[in-house]
Amino acid sequence: MADQNGPFGVTSLVWGVKQSFRTYVDSTGGVTEAGAGASRTAEGEFVFAGADGSGLVLTADGLLEGQGSFLGEVQFKSHGGMLSVFLADPMIEVKGSGASLTVADSRERDRRVELALLDLSAMTRSAGAEVVIPAALAMHGIMLLGDHYPLRTVLDSVRLTLAGN
Ligand code: HEM
Repeated sequence: MADQNGPFGVTSLVWGVKQSFRTYVDSTGGVTEAGAGASRTAEGEFVFAGADGSGLVLTADGLLEGQGSFLGEVQFKSHGGMLSVFLADPMIEVKGSGASLTVADSRERDRRVELALLDLSAMTRSAGAEVVIPAALAMHGIMLLGDHYPLRTVLDSVRLTLAGN
């Protein structure tokens, strides 16, 4: 295990969006694709690589600071194309005791929406290698996911891989 103390840069973001949504898309015969820098874990979560110059840091005091930019896109499609959810190039911005996760909502990447609110007070460190942060649906994420989940619905926790691990 690497040095526990840091500070550590964040090298990638691992996030499944919402497990029940992924399962739903699969169970309705849909397609889920990751690309442009994003890949998938064996569990079906998405791995977004840190972009050059991304500045998200876990300090020696165990606090998350700065802004992280990650690369990659995810497309969910089902119901013959009626369900089409796209998100790309997530960013995490720390604001006080919370953080927000925004995504571009089209391939043109000309608009970003706040998809999730991250609860930094409940952040945990797993095995030294990553931090895990609970996430909940933000106002603008409601429409992105098809207007099915109410505000603050629990989403998959966000995992941040720390440099050197
Ligand atoms: C032909 C059109 C559609 C049909 C017949 C349909 C049918 C259903 C059904 C039956 C469920 C309940 C599944 C369950 O509880 O196990 C469901 C859930 C859901 N649907 Fe659709 N749907 C359609 C279109 C859409 C579209 C366009 C979206 C847009 C994103 C969408 C998003 C969702 C979501 C997010 C859930 C909740 C999944 C979960 O977390 O359990 N659906 N749908």
